Amino acid sequence: MADKTTDTSRVLIFDTTLRDGEQSPGATMSHEEKLEIAAMLDEMGVDVIEAGFPIASEGDFAAVSDIAKNSKNSIICGLSRANIKDIDRCWEAVKHAAKPRIHTFIGTSPSHRAITNLDKDEMVERIYQTVTHARNLCEDVQWSAMDAIRTERDYLCRVVETAIKAGATTINIPDTVGYTTPNESAEIIRELLEKVPGADQVIFATHCHNDLGMATANSLAAVEAGARQVECTINGLGERAGNTALEEVVMALRVRQDLMPFNTRIDTTKIMNLSRKVAQVSGFAVQFNKAIVGKNAFLHESGIHQDGVLKNVETFEIMKPSDIGITETNIAMGKHSGRAALRSKLKELGYELADNQLQDVFVRFKALADRKKEVYDEDIMALMSDSVVNTGEDVLQVKKLRVVCGSDGQEAALTMSVKGEEKSATCEGDGPVDACFNAVKEIFPHAARLKLYQVQAVTDGTDAQATVVVRLEEDGRIVSGSAADTDTILASVKAYVGALNRLIVRRTKTAPDSDMKTVSFKQ
Ligand code: KIV
Ligand code: ZN
Repeated sequence: MADKTTDTSRVLIFDTTLRDGEQSPGATMSHEEKLEIAAMLDEMGVDVIEAGFPIASEGDFAAVSDIAKNSKNSIICGLSRANIKDIDRCWEAVKHAAKPRIHTFIGTSPSHRAITNLDKDEMVERIYQTVTHARNLCEDVQWSAMDAIRTERDYLCRVVETAIKAGATTINIPDTVGYTTPNESAEIIRELLEKVPGADQVIFATHCHNDLGMATANSLAAVEAGARQVECTINGLGERAGNTALEEVVMALRVRQDLMPFNTRIDTTKIMNLSRKVAQVSGFAVQFNKAIVGKNAFLHESGIHQDGVLKNVETFEIMKPSDIGITETNIAMGKHSGRAALRSKLKELGYELADNQLQDVFVRFKALADRKKEVYDEDIMALMSDSVVNTGEDVLQVKKLRVVCGSDGQEAALTMSVKGEEKSATCEGDGPVDACFNAVKEIFPHAARLKLYQVQAVTDGTDAQATVVVRLEEDGRIVSGSAADTDTILASVKAYVGALNRLIVRRTKTAPDSDMKTVSFKQ
């Protein structure tokens, strides 16, 4: 359990990339990917990993329990609504961890109370019962007042007091809709600490969404007011405008120690690799000018800046690239580089592969090195982002593609394997990518609609690889696929097929039970 008393300058980092982050439409991650990310978060020094919402599906349950079993130092937490069935299921999943936590929540603002059909007193009763039940199972219980910011202040004090009396050890005050401002965020924490009996016995947490672009500022203001747990995600992943970005909070606390004398346990040199990994598996590319982890975050384009940085790095840089794990050794690899060199480069970039996976990547690395003179770190990361790496058992696999394009029209001849059986189709389309996607649809008919098609060059030059992200939607399920290749059209087909493979997996997942609909979870 997180200790309240030891060090008042210590801020706990609670990462919810695998729960709130994964709720971003299209950001679904596979079981293995979740386990890998959890292991990286644990190694980076994250205090609490929110690994999922165990009752939501069999897949979520399995992910939370496996992450719990594999955990080393981090507390492993699962989410549950305010009912006994959810809490029991959550406990079943997290109990395998050396340090388990049950996180239970209910929406306390007027609009949430209306949805739950509970009046103020009934809700207080429900909070008391559910937190007591959770505490009887687990000594570490977090309680959240969803939409706390829009909850009447006196009622917020009352529900927080109830949760503390029932045994909650962490009280989370979420800004569920990203509505607050730094002043208000601080004021609420201060008021709760002052007015609520027992507040000094628990840890207050801040959980901000970024709808108005103030999540990091609001979280830091809450810390200055007394919150000692920040809830955040890698790259600020999360539904709508996302959650507070872990890397922003951690680096802000580190860079502005003079103003904010708080410490985290985070090994910041692991930030960049985690950012890449999350971008890769979620299919959500990091915007170029994103603070801390964006491609341009440490680039100085203007002459004045370059000159200043060359003379004295502190002129324009408030932190070093190496602080977040950007290595200066972006040495090009080429077709003469061997397996050992590739393995060591992959390790440097944060990928530890089993021998059979390494062999697969090596074959594709060689193929790339044949087509591209110099293979840079970005190319290797793009190779790793190619969904094919992780999916030996994919139902659909691209076997052969021939495309004719130009002023006389476009045609794609595609061969794919569908559950091991080879099928081919030749289709025309409105452009080469459209022709290819039509061929995929002919081979594997489906009703999924294309929600996003995004192409990004990985490096400079006309021989650069393109990373393609495709997002599909079917019956409310949203999935993404990504792939990289020097051939943009081939990468597009592979990304599309990757997304379809994920959709096939999602179709087989158990739908959340009907009780999920009676207590609203999301905005
Ligand atoms: O944003 C929110 O209110 C949440 C809660 C479930 C903690 O994610
Ligand atoms: Zn949230």
